[in-house]
Amino acid sequence: MNSKKLAPFLKWPGGKRWFITRYKEKFPTNYNKYIEPFVGGGSVFFRLQPINTIISDVNSELINVYIVMRDNPDELANILQYHQKHHCEDYYYKMRAYKPREKIKKAGRFLYLNRTCYNGMYRVNQKGEFNVPIGTKNNCIYDIELFPEYAKSLKDAEIHASDFGPILQRASLNDLVFVDPPYTIAHNQNSFIKYNERLFSWEDQERLLDELCKARNRGAIIFATNANYNSLREMYVKKGFFVKTVERYSSISGKTDKRGKQEELLITSMKMED
Ligand SMILES: C[S@@+](CC[C@H](N)C(=O)[O-])C[C@H]1O[C@@H](n2cnc3c(N)ncnc32)[C@H](O)[C@@H]1O
Repeated sequence: MNSKKLAPFLKWPGGKRWFITRYKEKFPTNYNKYIEPFVGGGSVFFRLQPINTIISDVNSELINVYIVMRDNPDELANILQYHQKHHCEDYYYKMRAYKPREKIKKAGRFLYLNRTCYNGMYRVNQKGEFNVPIGTKNNCIYDIELFPEYAKSLKDAEIHASDFGPILQRASLNDLVFVDPPYTIAHNQNSFIKYNERLFSWEDQERLLDELCKARNRGAIIFATNANYNSLREMYVKKGFFVKTVERYSSISGKTDKRGKQEELLITSMKMED
């Protein structure tokens, strides 16, 4: 295990930093492999810093950044420094339109845009193109001295661009699985959260539950988060999972009353102490 506590190097929609800060102690410490198939910004991975790991995400541009961070952190830092030196509105839109072919340049562009775009939010249009306007933050190299630490914690990780299905099929006895899928708003509405060109549908939610049941039956330990909807709660309880409501206070409103409060589900294969 890497001793340094690392925060994600990317701002990512649905990031679970708040969750792992509060619930880290609930995670088992004795397990075989750590498997996280919706890794996003990796808040949970970087906090737990497991040694024997498979991380993946369907977003191949995101996964490319992890691979380059693991294999080539110094060059990635140099590219970001170059972007920093040239950063201005014109340069931002030029980079947004630019489609590099080399992995290292792709990763540098992705990190640069993630750090300087509006609200730091990754979003693509129907054609899969990044389309977020420039934001107000001008510093994209604030943590480059930590890149070797990120590389160290990713050193032995298997990293894949993949749908969650084949990754979860690799989970077996005593593996720890953490899943944090995109939140389906409701199974009869058309308002799904969109991260990629592709939506995470209600059918994906059912397919995920099915894979989690199979992984649990092979002896894997499951930790999952999901949106707090009765339909989701019921389908997990019906399959014998333990479901708990967890609360977070929205940092956007900064309020601790009802308006700022959001509830999510924490789903586990083992009963948790309160
Ligand atoms: C809620 S985010 C994960 C956030 C992460 N826990 C964090 O702390 O940043 C969900 C992730 O699932 C990915 N995703 C969407 N559909 C997927 C699929 N079918 N298979 C694997 N990953 C998928 C998205 O690209 C996104 O990164």
